[in-house]
Order: sequence, then structure tokens, then C-alpha cells
Amino acid sequence: MSTDLFIVGGDGDLALRKLYPSLYYLEINDCMPDSMRIIGTARTGQSREEFQAKIKKWLVQSVDEKLYSEEKWLSFANKIYFAQGDATKPDDLEKIGQEFFNEDNVLVVYLAIPPKIFGHVCRSLDACGLVKENSRLIVEKPLGDSRESFLEINEELSRVFTEKQLFRIDHYLGKESVQNLLALRFANDFFEPLWNNKYIDSVQITVTETVGVGNRWAFYDQTGATRDMVQNHLLQVLCLMAMEPPAMLDADSVRAEKLKVLKSLKPITNEDVFDRTVRGQYVRGTVAGEEVPGYLEEESDKYEIDPNSQTETYVAIESEIENWRWSGVPIYLRTGKRLNKKHSEIVVYFKQSHHNIFAKSKGERCPNKLIIQLQPDSGISLHLNSKVQGLDAGIPLKDGFLNLDLDDHSEPMKHDAYSRLFFDVFRNDQTLFVSADEVEAAWEWVDQIFTSWKETGQKCENYEAGTEGPDRAHRLVNSCGQKWYDGEYCPIEY
Ligand code: BG6
Repeated sequence: MSTDLFIVGGDGDLALRKLYPSLYYLEINDCMPDSMRIIGTARTGQSREEFQAKIKKWLVQSVDEKLYSEEKWLSFANKIYFAQGDATKPDDLEKIGQEFFNEDNVLVVYLAIPPKIFGHVCRSLDACGLVKENSRLIVEKPLGDSRESFLEINEELSRVFTEKQLFRIDHYLGKESVQNLLALRFANDFFEPLWNNKYIDSVQITVTETVGVGNRWAFYDQTGATRDMVQNHLLQVLCLMAMEPPAMLDADSVRAEKLKVLKSLKPITNEDVFDRTVRGQYVRGTVAGEEVPGYLEEESDKYEIDPNSQTETYVAIESEIENWRWSGVPIYLRTGKRLNKKHSEIVVYFKQSHHNIFAKSKGERCPNKLIIQLQPDSGISLHLNSKVQGLDAGIPLKDGFLNLDLDDHSEPMKHDAYSRLFFDVFRNDQTLFVSADEVEAAWEWVDQIFTSWKETGQKCENYEAGTEGPDRAHRLVNSCGQKWYDGEYCPIEY
């Protein structure tokens, strides 16, 4: 059966920057479904050739030149069509349907448009009979800004599409390094007996960026780091790190386990919000040798910047999963913009026995750590104590590590997160997509944080751009006797 991919918002920013390059990767991997057609729609008229030329311009900029060839481009371009129309209008969709969609094909619709018009488009698709049992719908965040607004959006989608037809993207789940968490945990049995509150002291999940909010100020000011990153990406990573082994590697089993984690998150209340969260906002500073403006000084031609904005560009949270495996283990989450480096990682600190037979030796016994690097490099390193070689008295210790580099440095990566996710939609596999229940549970936990911030009047703390974030974020982690892992080895004192 052939597949038609219909991209609503087909010449918008998301489509041009992300979607077509990712689809091109499927082309070079020979992973496109048979007789695939990609139909982009937009209100502004243009010829098929003009549309293809626009896509090509973006594609050559974003795809590694070693992976670009005219031959592959031509076979990709042959699959691309342009359809003018307003997808919220059934008449327009009917015409597009008659011209492009084949009754027997699987129709996959991608809504690369603002969520406030998702409902209109779904109703139009339905009104002109385009939604069939085998149709699929792909949507992406922001799926609301609270549990309530998410439920409203979801209700609109669910009137037309069943849960089995809905593919909610969280692009972190499309990343190789994030999927590798499943392999690391469930294909290496020796971790399992250690993966609990008896042996794990604390966990840190970090996703930092050096970029500022730039021209997304208006969107970002309504959103902030907690809604933009924690509600989705960080909580999804947390779920994969913490969930119970699923019975099978299929959508129902994996999503059910992730949901249990989200539902077990301990609420952050007025009583403990100050001790368990730090919200920050960047002020002018230097990133990679370049002076950059503060959040309230960003250039924004179209919008007036609110000088009193309390939107957080950084957040650090001490979370806890209240279940048999994890209760009592602090799981620290932190993310922010305009920090000193772009990197994402999970650091698992293991407990140490109280009795230290090396106490009188030189050096320091460090807690064992498992560091799972998510990006920019992906790899795993297990930190262990070992003896410093030499004729010192006793057994002096040093921190050493076993490294597993997951990147193939000889070749550019032949796919990205979105190509993986497209690949799975075409195979009708929802394992790496987020269920409605998960999104709802994640919002519920995040909503509670906002309520507590509001009710206690907790304000943003400033941090200089190019630093590690607000000072108090260090104290958050110090409270369990740790510090944020910064890639440095444990000091050896002689
Ligand atoms: C997006 C956020 O979901 O993820 C952006 O809206 C953020 O603000 C981006 O920059 C980060 O994604 P990645 O893949 O670069 O870590």
C-alpha cells in the first residue's frame, strides 16, 4: 500500500528547516515507503518547481555535503508536490484531496502549524472524508501550556482521530542516544540489581544550551524553560531512565511503564517549592567569547519586551519518584538557555559503603558514577576507583573510567531524530511517541510547580549568560552531598 504524507504548513519554518531534511535522510537510507508522495500545502500559491527549489535551498544548508547528491535529490524531489489551499477550509481540502490523494493510500497528515488551528484542520479533513481507518496524524509541542489546555487540544484531535492514529512527537525520543537508554538498561542485566534506591544515591539529568531565545521572545515569554523543556524532553528522559522493564518493546508496554513513572512523581508544593526548585533568568554576559544581551534586552522587532517578565530561562528541580524502586533518591533536573556549554547527560551517582578501608591512603575514594552522554557526543562512561601506580604507602586511589563511545566518527550521521520518527510513523509504530495520558500526567506535575511558584511568589534569580546558571542551583544539589557533575574528575589530594 502506498503512503501520502500531507504536510500542513508545508512551507513554514519547521517544515523547511527540519522536516524535509529529515525526509531526505530516509531517501538516502532507502527507507521511504513504496511510491511515497509528499504533498506540502500552504496558503500562498507557488508552482511545484518553486516549492522544490525552496526545499532544496534549505536542504543543502542543513545536510552534510558528504550526504548530498544530485541523484538522491532528484529522486527525493520527484516525490514532492505542492498544493495551494487553506487546510482549515473543507472546500480547499476537498480539491486537494481530489487532485492528490488516492483512496487506497495511507494518508499521513503532519500538522506543522500552531496548535490553535489543529482542531479546524482536523474537522475539515473529516468533513471531506479524508480520514480513514488507516490514516495517521502527527502533531508536535506545544501541546497546550497546562493540563487543561492540553485536554482541550486533545479533545479536538480525538474527535477525528483515535489514539492509535495519533503520533505525538517529542523529538528527544527520536535521538539515538535517548533510545540507547533502553538498550543500556534492558540489554545489560548486571545493571538491574543495582538500579534502585538501595544502590543509587542520586541522579542528575542535564540539558543545557548556549543559545538565547533570540527572535522567539514572544513565544518563549509565554512558555519558559519548564514548559518548553521539562514538561516534555526532560521528563521523557527521566521516564526512560527510571521506568520498570516493559513486558515487550512495543508501544503499549513502553508507554504504560513511562506513565507509571509520571504518575509517581512527588508533587512540589508551596511548603517545599523553594527548597526543591530554582528558577533563573539570564542577564548580559559572555558566551564563547562573545558578549550577549540579557533576556530582557533581546532584540524583538515585533513585540514589546516586558521589563518585568518573570519567565524562567533556567530551571533546576529536585524531583522524586515515589515508588518501590526510587523513593528517597533525589533526581535533579536542570535545563537552561545561555549557559556555558551545550550538552545533555544523565549522571547516576551510586552509594558508597560507610566503612572506608582506604581512608588513611592518599587520594580520595569517589562515588561510582555512570555518565550517559546524550549530546553533542553520545557515549557512556562508568567511573571507578583504581590504584595510583607507584610506591606510595597504602593504596592511593584515583578516579578512572570505562568509556563507550557510541558515535561513528568516520562518517556523518545519516539520519536525525525526525527521520527516525518519520520512519516509525510510516511503519505505524507508536513506541517512540507520547501517549495522551503521558502528556496529561506530565502537565499535572508541572502545573503544580507553577501554582506553587505563584502562590509563594518565588521569583527568578539572575544568572550571567555564559555561566552555569544561578548560584542557588548548586546548593540544591549540595543538600544531598553532591555537586552538579561538570565533567571533571574527582580531585586527588596529595
Ligand atoms: C525544543 C525547544 O523543543 O528543543 C527549544 O523548544 C530547544 O527551545 C530545543 O532549543 C532543544 O533541542 P535540541 O535537540 O537542540 O537539544
